[in-house]
Formats: sequence, structure tokens, C-alpha cells
Amino acid sequence: MQTLNPKALFNPDADTRESGRTLIGGETTNLMMLSNNKYRWSFPLYKTMMQNFWIPEEISLGQDKLHYDRLEPAERETFDKVISFLVFLDSLQTVNLPNINEYVTLPEVNLLLNIQTYQEALHSQSYGYILESIVGAQRQREIYEIAIKDPYLLRRNRYIADCYQEFIDEQTEKGFAKVMMANYILEGIYFYAGFSFFYNLARFGKMTGVGTEIKYINRDELTHLALFQNMFRELRSECPGIFTPAFEEELRDMMRRAVAHEIEWGEYAFGDRIQGLNSGLIRDYIRYLSNFRLEAIGLTPLYPEEVEDPLPFIRQFTQFNQTKTDFFEEKVINYAKGGSDLDLDALDDFEL
Ligand SMILES: [Fe+2]
Ligand SMILES: [Fe+2]
Repeated sequence: MQTLNPKALFNPDADTRESGRTLIGGETTNLMMLSNNKYRWSFPLYKTMMQNFWIPEEISLGQDKLHYDRLEPAERETFDKVISFLVFLDSLQTVNLPNINEYVTLPEVNLLLNIQTYQEALHSQSYGYILESIVGAQRQREIYEIAIKDPYLLRRNRYIADCYQEFIDEQTEKGFAKVMMANYILEGIYFYAGFSFFYNLARFGKMTGVGTEIKYINRDELTHLALFQNMFRELRSECPGIFTPAFEEELRDMMRRAVAHEIEWGEYAFGDRIQGLNSGLIRDYIRYLSNFRLEAIGLTPLYPEEVEDPLPFIRQFTQFNQTKTDFFEEKVINYAKGGSDLDLDALDDFEL
């Protein structure tokens, strides 16, 4: 099994010709030759990620405190659990992405993973801002700690962290593909029962400031998905030997298990107790979503019967045109200069 070595900090003797530059296992000087990127998708993605800059505190949550206090008890309980899970996911990403990045031997991708890491940190900042806007200090800590004290959630979080831990313990080419898959699943599946809960509240006029925060987080997560989709495609062409039918089946199995866990989580966290959602809808939505995710990285969908989007209202929140005002008319500063060239569709395989 091909073992990977962490890259040297500076290697002036590395092969800088295009043929010598690879996603993993290559030699790299570590020079950022950003006018000469090997992957033509990398610079447009870099620009999009940079232009997506936003500040959580610019979204007013003044009304959300009132909304939170008026939520139905089941809604409030679910809200707390879902926020706690999202805090866990973004925290894990912030801490783990550098572990993946250490083995990536293309500086232009290192750059993108670094931006992703900073955005995951920004998402944690937004959860902190949300919690301090709606509850006192004692309750804030209790909500953070649901992720480690709720037995169901703890079990789930351990499983997710263990998938990442495998690559920390042993670094191989296949292990790299698997940790990429784990990352892709986290970005593309594990957020979505939670996101749909918040969007569902927002469409009933509840916690709309939080809904806006989530929308901006979601926009970042979509670029992270695009990053990993493209990395997958490059890995597949540079290391075709590892993508055997058996290994592809292993990757699909990871998705199958993830879908089952996310559906179970939806049942556990909100079940049929929330107006506008039920566990059947969440099940169909997560399966439907997984089909897109697998297709986007060249794998066969698991649920071909799921052809219709069961939660179409979510598209109102996740389709971004280039105006930077949000769905709820909140005003967020548009930091993009000349933002009209922000064209997400121009990115190859940017299937969201
Ligand atoms: Fe995030
Ligand atoms: Fe992310």
C-alpha cells in the first residue's frame, strides 16, 4: 500500500513542470505560483471563496431572541440539539483540515484548504454569536455540551471523528481518498437535516436572523463541496489504480452509512414534532441529496428512485444569485469588488 509522506516545508529541487505536480505524493517547492496553476478550476474557486467574505455580526439577531422564547418546546429542544451538532461539525473541520492539507502537494490546493479552514472558524463564530444573542451564559455552555453529553449525539460524533482519525493514524493513497470522502459527506450530507430544520423555521417566520446566518454558512459549504468534488476528479485521474470497483463500492458504502445516520439523526432530533417537516420528508431529502453528491464525484447513486426534491422550499435559500442581500431583506455588506463576475456556474462540476 502506497504510504504518503508529509511534504517538505521548502524543497527548491522539486519538479515544477506540470507533469511533476500532483495532488498527493508529489514533490513541491511550496512556492505559490498562482499565475501558473495546474488545475484551471482552482483560481476561480479561490476568487469565489474570497469574495464570499461575510461577518456574522452584521446580521441582526435582535428579533431572534423574542422568537426563540416563543418557540414551541419541541422546536426549542431541536434548535439546541441542531446548533450543538453544527458546532461540532465546524469545530472538527477547523481542526482536521490541516491534517489533510499536510499531505496535499499542490500549493494552489493548500491555499483553498486554508481558506476553507478559516471559513469553518467563521462558522463557529456565527454559532457563538447566535447563542449569545438568544440565551444566557449558563445555557450557552449547556447547548455547546449537548454534542458531548447527549449519548446519541456523542456516539454519532465519535463515529464521524473516527473516520478522520484513521487518516491521522495511517496515511496511504486509499486512506486519503477515504478521508476526502468523509469530508465530502460531512459537507454534503451531515449539515443538511440541520439546515433544513432552520430553513423550515424561517419559512414560518421564526428565527429568520438565524436562518440568514445559516444561509451564509451554507453558501460557504457549497464552495467546500466544489473543492472536494474537484479534488476527487483530479485524484481519480492521477491515481487511477486505487479506484477499483471494490474501492468505489467501499466509498458508496460510506455514503450509505452516512445517509442512514443522518436520517436517524433527523428522527431523533425532530421526528414528527415540527410543523412543516416530518421524518419521511427528511429521509427522502437526504437520499435525494446523496444521489447528487455521488454523481458529482463519478459514483453511482444509491437511491435512483428518489428523483423528486421533497423539500423544494430549501432552494430559495441555497440558490445564490449575485446580489448579496439575503432572502429576508437583511442587509449584509457586499465586500466583493466588481462582484458581477462572481459566477458559480462557471466552475466545472459545481453541482450543488
Ligand atoms: Fe462550516
Ligand atoms: Fe465546510
